Amino acid sequence: MAAEIISGTDMARTIRTEITEGVQEMKGRTGRVPGLATVLVGADPPSQSYVRMKNRAASEVGIESRQIDLSEEITEDELLGWIEGLNADPDIHAVLVQLPLPDHIDKGRVLEAIHPAKDVDGFHPVNVGRMTVGDPAAMIPCTPLGVIELLMRSGIDPRGQHAVVVGRSNIVGRPMGALLLSEQRGGDATVTVAHLLTKDLASHTRMADILVVAAGAPGLITADMVRPGAVVIDVGINRIEDPSREKGYRITGDVRFDEVKEVASHITPVPGGVGPMTIAMLLSNTLRAARALIPGSSG
Ligand code: GUN
Repeated sequence: MAAEIISGTDMARTIRTEITEGVQEMKGRTGRVPGLATVLVGADPPSQSYVRMKNRAASEVGIESRQIDLSEEITEDELLGWIEGLNADPDIHAVLVQLPLPDHIDKGRVLEAIHPAKDVDGFHPVNVGRMTVGDPAAMIPCTPLGVIELLMRSGIDPRGQHAVVVGRSNIVGRPMGALLLSEQRGGDATVTVAHLLTKDLASHTRMADILVVAAGAPGLITADMVRPGAVVIDVGINRIEDPSREKGYRITGDVRFDEVKEVASHITPVPGGVGPMTIAMLLSNTLRAARALIPGSSG
């Protein structure tokens, strides 16, 4: 029997409605709304498109969004100056610096400069540490948080299940493993974190009750790598050249959707799966950051 397809698009719409209500409630209590600043350095087309989508989504739920476009040539110190300004700005509660940054800029220094309370990406070492030890004050990175939300809202609780994560990036794979392992809601799984250098990757993926793939490798996961009845979450967003498309490319995941859907019990599509959830979680983290920073904003 073909898998149930989990629509991240539909779920994200529901979450955005919930956030709109939360923003209105804050406005009613305090006269203020959350403020999100996105910082884009350079003109990388996918980054431009992501940042545009993030700002549009923020405006739609009533979050005040400010996009700061900076030249590819900006110095590290100048960029740090912008971040200091946003840290000190009382109307900004959330600061996001889109990655990747140009090679001449030390990404670590930039991410460490963002105030942890405004770090809605959850990339600051303080938040990474808090998340790893299960501190509820941690800001959690949006994509793995979106995956947990997507599982729980689909009635899939990882507790006691074997979750296999393929990918070990700081943005998805590592925090994903930590969240699935944690004792919080959506955690309590037994976790394997594998990656592209894992010996006999298929022997690990076949053990998964829940398989989360974030390797950035188009079509990596084939049907024979998936245990029948497993839940498959595809985090991959790969641009593949396709002259037949208007834009000259199409977006594809890390999972061969057409064959794996015949084996899995649940599967997320690309696009329309994890992507919209990532943006919804950015809005959720922004509201959360604003509630923590604006006195009297939550009851
Ligand atoms: N680049 C790719 N994914 C992300 C993300 O989640 N946050 C930021 N800031 N940059 C990214």
